[in-house]
Parts: sequence; structure tokens; C-alpha cells
Amino acid sequence: MTQETVAVAADHAGFPLKETLKGDLAARGFNVLDLGTESTASVDYPDYADRLAAALKRGDAQRGIIVCGTGIGIAIAANRHRHVRAAVCHDATAARLARQHNDANVLALGARVTGEEVARDCLRVFLDTAFEGGRHARRVDMLARSNRTD
Ligand code: RB5
Repeated sequence: MTQETVAVAADHAGFPLKETLKGDLAARGFNVLDLGTESTASVDYPDYADRLAAALKRGDAQRGIIVCGTGIGIAIAANRHRHVRAAVCHDATAARLARQHNDANVLALGARVTGEEVARDCLRVFLDTAFEGGRHARRVDMLARSNRTD
């Protein structure tokens, strides 16, 4: 059976948490596609959001994990790509609902605002929870179709 590939990307603030989460993913048998960054040297989070969006677009990974200081900047950048549904999650309940209701394909975490164990819980629940479909599918389809730019 082919294992799912999960792409991970972070800026300098998210780098240490990204490394921890990579370990969790590997321990569970996921293929990990690491798109950087590789240290705590300062970088710009939009670059890493774009890398992750491109990897999903190419089909190199099916889901992604992005990390910055708050999770907010990198999620804003990722969500500019229409095929990305990135959810900033601060607890496992949000991670579960992001999958069940929003079919989020990217989990965004904030290393400066969410403790490591909570972040690991978010990852576990995000990976294990299926999209519920039904009425939620119609709304998610609306996201893909929408062109509400102004
Ligand atoms: C970097 O200092 C910080 O601004 C970034 O990681 C993130 O929190 C932005 O949303």
C-alpha cells in the first residue's frame, strides 16, 4: 500500500516545532516531504507557504503542515492559493472540526502560541479525522468556486 505523503514547511519561528512534528509523522509511517526552512535563521513565511502550495498542486503531497510564530501569517499566505484550505488550530477540537467540516488539507500551527504537546495532539487529530461531506461538501465546493475578491 502506498503511504500518504505529508508536506511540512515552516519559517524560522516554526522550525523547531516542524522538526518535532516530522518525527511524529515518520513514526506513524507517513512519508514526509520537508520544504524547509532548515534553521532558526530569519526567513519570510510567504515563501514557505508558496512552497507547500506548489507541492500540493503538483501532487507531491496530499496534505500539509505549516508552522510560523502564530500560524497566522503562513496560513494567510497559503490560503491565497485556491486549492489550499489551511486552518489555524490551537487545540484538537479545532483540528477535528477543520477536517470534519472544512476538509482542511493544511494544518497551520503557531509555535509561539501553542505548546508542543497541544500541537502534537492537533497533528494527530488532523491526520486521523475524515471529512464529513454532506452539507459541508456544498460549502467547501463554494470555496473552490468563489471569486469574492472585493
Ligand atoms: C516571524 O517573526 C513571525 O512574524 C512569523 O513567524 C509569524 O508569526 C507571522 O505570522
